[in-house]
Amino acid sequence: MNRSIIKTRHVNQMTWSIDSIPSQEDKLAFITGANSGLGFDTAKALLKKGATVIAGCRSLEKAEKARHKLIKETNSAKIDVLEIDLADLKKVNKAIDQITTKYKKLNLLVNNAGVMAPPRTISKQGFELQFAVNHLSHMALTLKLLPFIAQQPRGRVVTVSSGAQYMGRINLNNLQGEGNYDRWAAYSQSKLANVMFALELHYRLRQANIDIDSLSAHPGLARTNLQSTSIQANGSGSWQEAITYKLMTPMFQSSAMGSLPQLLAATDQNAKSGEQYGPRFNFKGAPKLCRIAPLALNSEQRCQLWEASDSLIGDYVDISIGKRLLSNKA
Ligand SMILES: NC(=O)c1ccc[n+]([C@@H]2O[C@H](COP(=O)([O-])OP(=O)(O)OC[C@H]3O[C@@H](n4cnc5c(N)ncnc54)[C@H](OP(=O)(O)O)[C@@H]3O)[C@@H](O)[C@H]2O)c1
Repeated sequence: MNRSIIKTRHVNQMTWSIDSIPSQEDKLAFITGANSGLGFDTAKALLKKGATVIAGCRSLEKAEKARHKLIKETNSAKIDVLEIDLADLKKVNKAIDQITTKYKKLNLLVNNAGVMAPPRTISKQGFELQFAVNHLSHMALTLKLLPFIAQQPRGRVVTVSSGAQYMGRINLNNLQGEGNYDRWAAYSQSKLANVMFALELHYRLRQANIDIDSLSAHPGLARTNLQSTSIQANGSGSWQEAITYKLMTPMFQSSAMGSLPQLLAATDQNAKSGEQYGPRFNFKGAPKLCRIAPLALNSEQRCQLWEASDSLIGDYVDISIGKRLLSNKA
């Protein structure tokens, strides 16, 4: 298989909406960051279509509030909450064990939760926060859950990236942004890493002949708590960003619209593993198949990032079972 060439197809997704989602009865979905923004709207749409949703949240209090709101807005009570702090790989490990103990299957994993451009912060295990939360923990989650997802036909893993992928660079010599830290470069790196992970997973799944699809999606610009959380974390250091977000108001779409690309990637029967979906007009609009950042097409760098991430995760999360599955060459 030529790993450097991505085949794209032209599909008319202009009219894709929540109404396009097929029935999700009998599907179990796990969504990280489901208490807020895109994760909340993804959970809402899936519940409306009959899925059972596990809302993975770092705060059980926020999770409970979201659960009540979702039940009210969807008339479906098929929602469970699970505490998961992606800034602590040991807690990620524990959350995964809870899933595999409590549930009999998992059809869909949405790697959605994220943090954007805080001042340099360190995760529990000493990794740069954005790299840890946005990328490392989602990779750990996916690899440990992979055999569980593989028990069902046509499982899916959707990893949520950002338009920041197109500006991202992977600094393999300094993944943790030590020294001269640029919080936006670190965000872009983590979001490029999301796409590279989704694509590399796709290739490895196909090579091992495993019936799971891996896709990525990005929301364009969606009005969620992401922007205000970032402003708050940076305090007076981000007053220009606060003004910029206000000026950019017409460019933003709603959280519900922003969640459509990941919903399409998660549910559309014509969406294919290895593809990425985003808004029609880059920042906003109905979802469509979209270009993967050119740097993510570099298979050598994807493999290097995979190996480096694997070695950082391996001490805290037992991903050996997922790795063994992927090493079964078809
Ligand atoms: N909104 C946009 O315009 C935009 C653009 C590009 C990409 N994205 C991506 O979309 C995804 C969802 O973001 P959003 O816009 O919906 O933002 P949001 O409303 O702030 O939601 C982010 C979610 O991630 C959770 N989270 C943050 N740190 C976590 C941690 N350590 N452990 C577990 N969960 C954690 C948050 O939990 P708390 O509520 O507890 O903080 C929240 O549930 C992110 O990956 C983001 O990078 C968004």
